[in-house]
Amino acid sequence: MPAPERIPSRSLSGTELLTLLAEGELTVRGQVRGASNAVLYCTVGHEGEERTCVYKPVAGEQPLWDFPDGTLAQREVAAYEISEATGWGLVPPTVLREGPYGEGMCQLWIEAAPDGSADGDADSLLALVEGEEPGDGWKAVGFAEVGEGKTALLVHADDPRLRRLAVLDAVINNGDRKGGHLLPAPGGRLYGIDHGVTFNADDKLRTLLWGWAGEPLTDEAVAVLGRLAADLAPGAPLATRLGELITPAELDALRARVAALVATGRHPEPSGEWPAIPWPPV
Ligand SMILES: Nc1ncnc2c1ncn2[C@@H]1O[C@H](COP(=O)(O)OP(=O)(O)O)[C@@H](O)[C@H]1O
Ligand SMILES: [Mg+2]
Repeated sequence: MPAPERIPSRSLSGTELLTLLAEGELTVRGQVRGASNAVLYCTVGHEGEERTCVYKPVAGEQPLWDFPDGTLAQREVAAYEISEATGWGLVPPTVLREGPYGEGMCQLWIEAAPDGSADGDADSLLALVEGEEPGDGWKAVGFAEVGEGKTALLVHADDPRLRRLAVLDAVINNGDRKGGHLLPAPGGRLYGIDHGVTFNADDKLRTLLWGWAGEPLTDEAVAVLGRLAADLAPGAPLATRLGELITPAELDALRARVAALVATGRHPEPSGEWPAIPWPPV
């Protein structure tokens, strides 16, 4: 018997996608292996449309001593809110909702571009190279031990999408930007995922994207950060929404990070001698 023809899904607006994620019927199809928290691969269906998504129930979160308040799911939604406010669309649509295992975050599943595709794959974003020079089109992060007493230079692409993500990470104080959290999607878009360890009031920036450390921000980033500062003013709608997701101290620290970026006009530099990078980096 021939397989039933798949009805092509129509393209949904951003608001329609959020409604689908928040109100659609959520069905768990599988579990992503190797994740540090419960990460469930699901479908979500609403008014004849279906999409795949991840659902991370709060009940499946590993408690972290340095993130005692709120939930990782709330932080993931807050990161999405900031990404939307920048207009850069770097975080897939993300909502808080009830699901089969209680409250959690639900995020659109991003089908990564296949390896070697023209849209770029993860290998075109990060590399280890011999010698001391990153090479044309690459930015140096630092030296890494690669076994047998050898070191190699960890580099990332000098890519404007990554540069925006580096700014977003500085703003949200991302403690875990590793290679596996960079998803190049068909059509040339790049998404960042896994934003549970963010918004701490203390400096927690741990990232692979140190290549621009200390360099001037792009004019575009400066303009975006200026608007973001206004959006974060007490009483502004974004600040009010974030107030339900992170603590007042974390919201103040967020404002202070944005203000510091605007004041210095530069990408942040590592606080120690060595740049803080997540381990393992991929
Ligand atoms: N929105 C998404 N689109 C596509 N893949 C995803 C998405 N979210 C998570 N994944 C996949 O699931 C894995 C585990 O998710 P992650 O957010 O890293 O969970 P954890 O919080 O446990 O580290 C990711 O490395 C990625 O392969
Ligand atoms: Mg992860």
